[in-house]
Amino acid sequence: EELTLIRKFEHIEHCLNRNVQAHVSNGFEDVHFVHMSLPEIDKDEIDLSVEFLGRRFDYPIFIAGMTGGTKGSQLAGRINKTLAKAAQELNIPMGVGSQRAMIRKPETWESYYVRDVAPDVFLVGNLGAPQFSETIPERYGLEEALKAVETIQADALAIHMNPLQESVQPEGDTHYRGVLKALAELKAEFPYPIIAKETGAGVSKEVAIRLESIGIDAIDVGGLGGTSWSAVEYYRAKNEIGKALALRFWDWGIKTAISVAEVRYSTDLPIIATGGMRDGITMAKALAMGATFAGVALPLLRPAVKGDVEGVIKILRRYIEEIRNAMFLVGAKNMEELRKVPLVITGFTREWLEQRIDLREYLRHR
Ligand code: FNR
Repeated sequence: EELTLIRKFEHIEHCLNRNVQAHVSNGFEDVHFVHMSLPEIDKDEIDLSVEFLGRRFDYPIFIAGMTGGTKGSQLAGRINKTLAKAAQELNIPMGVGSQRAMIRKPETWESYYVRDVAPDVFLVGNLGAPQFSETIPERYGLEEALKAVETIQADALAIHMNPLQESVQPEGDTHYRGVLKALAELKAEFPYPIIAKETGAGVSKEVAIRLESIGIDAIDVGGLGGTSWSAVEYYRAKNEIGKALALRFWDWGIKTAISVAEVRYSTDLPIIATGGMRDGITMAKALAMGATFAGVALPLLRPAVKGDVEGVIKILRRYIEEIRNAMFLVGAKNMEELRKVPLVITGFTREWLEQRIDLREYLRHR
C-alpha cells in the first residue's frame, strides 16, 4: 500500500523536474486548416460551448485526471482543488487521478474531494482497467466503482487503460485478461457514465468499436505525443534492464491526431483528444477532426502544485483565445461549423490513415 502512495509522489516529481514528453509529435502538424479570407462571421459572435453527457460546458477543454492519494494527501489535495477552482470558474470538466489509493486507504479520500471548492464542476472519478481483470482474485467490481464516484460526488467514472506503463514498470499490473467482459458487466449495472481513457498510447479503431459495443459512454484517446508514461518509468527504473525497456518504449503508441480520426470514423462516441495538446490551434484541429474536447494534463501541473489557480486559468484562457482565433480564420462560429470546415491531411498521418480508414469518407462526416 505504501508503495502505491510513494509511486504517485515520484510520478509527480519526475513530471515536474524531467523531460517526460514523447520525442515524437502528436500528429497535428500533419493536419491543416485552410485559411478563409472572407470568414463572414464576427469574431465576437463565436460560441465555444459544447454538450457532453447531457451537460453544457462553456469551453471545449477538459482537465485530464492526474492525481490523488499521495502521502499525507497534502500535495495531491492541493493539485486537485486548484484545478477544480479553475474548472469551476470556466465551467469546464475535470478528472481526478487514479483512486486506487483511496480504495485501499479510504482515509486518503480528501485528496480527491473538490466539491467544497467546486460545487458545480463536472467531475470524473478514475480507476484502472487492470484492477478489473479476472486474473486478480481481489478484482474490482460494482462496489469499488460506486465508491470511487460517490465518495467524491463525481458525475462520471473514467477507466484508464495503461498497458504500456504497466508493462515497463517493475511492479506493474500486467493483468488485462477479462477486462472488457468485466467492464461490460459493470456498465450494465452502473448508474453513472463511463469514460474509457488511454494515458498516452492512443486508442485504435478496433478497441473503440469494442468499447462502444459494451455501452461505454465516451473515449479519451490519450494519444502519443504528450506525456510518455514510459518516460516517467524510465526515470523511476532501478536497474539497467528496466531503464533499457522503458527507453525502448518511450515513443510507443498511436498519435493523438490519428487516434481521434480512427475513433471518430469507427464509432459515434464522444471523444476527448488528450495527449500533447499544448496550444489552441492544435486544439481547434482536434475539434475539427471530431473531438468534443481537447484534454490537457502536464502543462497544468506546475501552477497546480503551487496552488496557483490564476496560473491555471491563465494557461486555459490562452488556449481558449487561440481556439477562438483559429475558428474566426476558418469562418466557424460554433463547434458544429468547425467540424465541417475543410481540412488537409498530409505526411505520416495521411499515410497511416489511408491504410486504416476511408479517409475521404471520414473527412466528409466527422
Ligand atoms: C497523469 N495521467 C493519469 N491518467 C489517469 O487516468 N490516471 C492517473 O492517475 C493519471 N496520473 C497522471 C499524473 C500526471 C502527473 C500526469 C502528467 C498525467 C495521464 C493524463 O490524464 C493524460 O492522459 C496524459 O498525461 C496525456 O496528456 P498530456 O499530459 O500530454 O497533456
